[in-house]
Amino acid sequence: MSSTSVRVHKAAFDGIAQQYDELFSSTAIGIAQRKVVWSKAQQEFRRGDHILELNCGTGEDARFLASMGASVLATDASPQMIAFARSKCRDLSRSISFKVLQIEQLDQLDSSASFDGVFSNFSGLNCVDDLHAVAESLASLCRPGLPVLLCLCSRTCLWEMAWYSVRMDFRRAFRRLSAFGSVATIGDSTVRVFYPSSAEIRRAFAPWFNLCSSQAVGLAVPPSYLNSIVTGIPRLRRLAEKFDRTFSRLPILRELGDHVLFHFVRNTI
Ligand SMILES: C[S@@+](CC[C@H](N)C(=O)[O-])C[C@H]1O[C@@H](n2cnc3c(N)ncnc32)[C@H](O)[C@@H]1O
Repeated sequence: MSSTSVRVHKAAFDGIAQQYDELFSSTAIGIAQRKVVWSKAQQEFRRGDHILELNCGTGEDARFLASMGASVLATDASPQMIAFARSKCRDLSRSISFKVLQIEQLDQLDSSASFDGVFSNFSGLNCVDDLHAVAESLASLCRPGLPVLLCLCSRTCLWEMAWYSVRMDFRRAFRRLSAFGSVATIGDSTVRVFYPSSAEIRRAFAPWFNLCSSQAVGLAVPPSYLNSIVTGIPRLRRLAEKFDRTFSRLPILRELGDHVLFHFVRNTI
């Protein structure tokens, strides 16, 4: 990858590291969407597991995994995100270690490092244009049978298409459908974000990983930029969460949320 894109990722996410929890993790929508991913993590990871986390951000998930009794190597491209996460997780320094690392540089990790699972939450992988190469690198770090949980922005988000269409903002409504991704503004910087379909993601991982399941995260629960609506009407949020618990795994519907959570398992090839 070019040094330009390395700089872009760092600059973009460095700029929002301090506000990220306020903008997303601590919001009603951030909490509701993360709860769904944590529920799946509890099913797939065990006490004592050593987990490789990609794009860990401010360390919210690393804290949760450590609270389950796992140890975590939490990585992120942004030095500021890692610095913030490290200070937030000071009390868990025996369970969590942090490393500044781009997803595209996973081959820098020691391939004899023994991980029991891989975890990537909320869209870090949408900032990577070659998921096939990521899958190949991960394959060399995973033994057969190990779980890999990846949560990416979906390609088709019903809420987003409806919300912006009624405002006649069709560029935003359908931005995820562009084959070249779209340029997102993060703080004062911009970053190119890709929105591969579930089929494309499955194909990128297929040589080394079998897809066990996928589900929508944020189907009736809307994207985080609609937080003010949900915060004002808690009953609506609870109803939306209930809808998602019931319907988010159904074919078609599982493609239409804000995010899709994939559960892959390393195959034996
Ligand atoms: C939306 S945040 C999600 C953070 C965290 N996983 C969470 O659940 O809150 C996306 C994160 O991906 C990181 N990121 C973006 N591109 C990356 C890349 N190519 N390699 C590693 N991390 C990346 C950013 O620095 C940022 O911390």
